[in-house]
Amino acid sequence: MRPNLTLISLVGLASAGMINPAFADGAAIAQRGTDHGTPACASCHGANGEGMAASGFPRLAGMNAGYLQTQLVALAKGQRVNPVMSPIAKSLSAEERAAVAGYYASLPAPATAAGATPHANPAGERLALQGRWAQGLPACIQCHGATGAGVGATFPALAGQSSIYIENQLHAWQQGARAPGPLGLMKVIASKLSATDIRDVAAYFATLPVSTANGRTKP
Ligand code: HEC
Ligand code: HEC
Repeated sequence: MRPNLTLISLVGLASAGMINPAFADGAAIAQRGTDHGTPACASCHGANGEGMAASGFPRLAGMNAGYLQTQLVALAKGQRVNPVMSPIAKSLSAEERAAVAGYYASLPAPATAAGATPHANPAGERLALQGRWAQGLPACIQCHGATGAGVGATFPALAGQSSIYIENQLHAWQQGARAPGPLGLMKVIASKLSATDIRDVAAYFATLPVSTANGRTKP
């Protein structure tokens, strides 16, 4: 990325110890966008990558870098389609996608967004923790981690994620708007969920406290 004033001032912050210098390029994109028309990610994903739950803008802070980068590539290549996010992902170069993914992964995950009562949705909790074996539906936590914190670059965190965002993704797989992903697992799983199941399981995960594989949760 060409140096510009924003980048230079962010590099200044980095050298003052406020931003990890390794992620200065990504920080510049996140906070200010690019000089070739990409809007600031922060305007939708929040000043600290915490997301905007009520608008269905997902949390990015503390998510796995490899996962975020893969999603940006899928959005840029049209394998995953969203009218808002696709053109933004397309506007980034491969280097910029890697830099901004690394930056968000380096941020501490925010505490639970809504502060709602955990485990308030028994039907959602059953699906999340036990699945529905009569239908060959495995428990969500078998892949997404016991606390919904995600596992590596393949299985993203669901705990504390916007319930609207989770619902939108499950509908996107049902409608073919999101690539089937690794082994087509989520397309099959989404096809076994009713609209009510989707609401319940999304509500359940949204109320769980955010915890991340890198173990950093903001107080
Ligand atoms: C105008 C609002 C807006 C802006 C600006 C924006 N995004 Fe998004 N972003 C969204 C929406 C909406 C979604 C959810 C898309 C969907 O439902 O599939 C999303 C989803 C994502 C995802 C997928 C997350 C996941 O868990 O799979 C990534 C990664 C992402 N955005 C990164 C970025 C980056 C990096 C920038 C800045 C270069 C950015 N976004 C700017 C609205 C925005
Ligand atoms: C067999 C493994 C497996 C199981 C079980 C599973 N998932 Fe997933 N899930 C995945 C994979 C792999 C991805 C990443 C897909 C991609 O890369 O596009 C994913 C992604 C997701 C996402 C997208 C998150 C984001 O940040 O965009 C949601 C939402 C989700 N799963 C919900 C669920 C729910 C709800 C359940 C239980 C009903 C569930 N998953 C069970 C493997 C699984």
